[in-house]
Amino acid sequence: MDTSPLPPTVLVAGAAGFLGSNMVHFLLDKGFNVIGLDSYQSGSAANLNDVQEHPRFAMIRHFPLPELPAIHQIYHLACTASPVQYQKHPVDTINTAYLGTRNLLDLARQHSARILLSSTSEVYGEPQVHPQPETYWGNVNPFGPRSCYDEGKRAAEALAYSYVQEYSVDVRLARIFNAYGPLMHPGDGRVVSNFVTATISGQPIIITGDGTATRSFLYVDDCIQGLYTLMHSNHTGPINIGSDRETAIEDLANLVRALAHRLTSHQSPNIIKLPRPEDDPTRRQPEISLARRLLGWKPVVSLEEGLLKTIQWHIDLGRSGRIEGYSKVNGRL
Ligand SMILES: NC(=O)c1ccc[n+]([C@@H]2O[C@H](COP(=O)([O-])OP(=O)(O)OC[C@H]3O[C@@H](n4cnc5c(N)ncnc54)[C@H](O)[C@@H]3O)[C@@H](O)[C@H]2O)c1
Repeated sequence: MDTSPLPPTVLVAGAAGFLGSNMVHFLLDKGFNVIGLDSYQSGSAANLNDVQEHPRFAMIRHFPLPELPAIHQIYHLACTASPVQYQKHPVDTINTAYLGTRNLLDLARQHSARILLSSTSEVYGEPQVHPQPETYWGNVNPFGPRSCYDEGKRAAEALAYSYVQEYSVDVRLARIFNAYGPLMHPGDGRVVSNFVTATISGQPIIITGDGTATRSFLYVDDCIQGLYTLMHSNHTGPINIGSDRETAIEDLANLVRALAHRLTSHQSPNIIKLPRPEDDPTRRQPEISLARRLLGWKPVVSLEEGLLKTIQWHIDLGRSGRIEGYSKVNGRL
């Protein structure tokens, strides 16, 4: 592990998004100076309301960047991550994945800063190796509805590799698997937020497909701790940040219904099944022995505990009347 003193200034790109805003709070709590950057394409200003006046936090919007103080680390968490959202803006998505990454790699180079890229399990596509180790090269459709994101992220990884080779930029590369939790936009279309918002607002839970597809869900606190630990490690190559507990989508739906019932006593909603979307991967589970060995990191929050916290957050958000700032995506709550 790197034992150098804590760097004072960290740029978080995608600061208003789900992971970015959780990272901003985490870094402020750790004592860093934090500069947030966001275009607000899918992020919510509401995620950062409580830190707007924080003396060690400043928010800037998008490129071109203003004059910046010396930046020591960059967390690149800027890219709309929900398939529903990125498929509405495929050109923006692939541009952000490639050009946004290039801009931030250039910034890292200019400031001699370390940069952590948030890549994704989607680089493995429809995996033919299960679980997926970092050495698996993936099985991705380059010409389909998910390509803007999947191939954009693969190109971003290749670009990062090139910046390491040619300019010795100090890169860290996380392949994140299905993080969920508080501050994920209630209407952004990802499966956990969909199931939770449906359940607590008494709507049917919609499963696309027959419910046997699997994902491995990582609670946000574990994800942020994993990214932070990776940032402070000496490992430059890709590393899976995920939970090795694999869950079928129908089992997730039933778990959300049961846990929401425990918290609200509301009657559980029905489940409706719709056709599976094109190119939706059937299985997803990370091999995380590298993260365990090199980072000493593993997830510690169980799916039940993480879902309870997530459901409670949605309930509190609904009660608080604070949902206006979250109404941009589809205003469902
Ligand atoms: N959450 C996950 O499960 C997961 C899994 C794999 C990878 N990732 C990656 O982690 C990062 C964060 O994901 P998230 O779940 O927080 O998504 P999110 O959509 O909640 O947040 C992304 C943020 O990036 C901002 N953004 C988009 N395009 C931008 C641009 N061109 N310039 C500046 N800001 C821009 C959005 O407005 C938003 O605030 C993304 O790079 C995503 O690909 C997330």
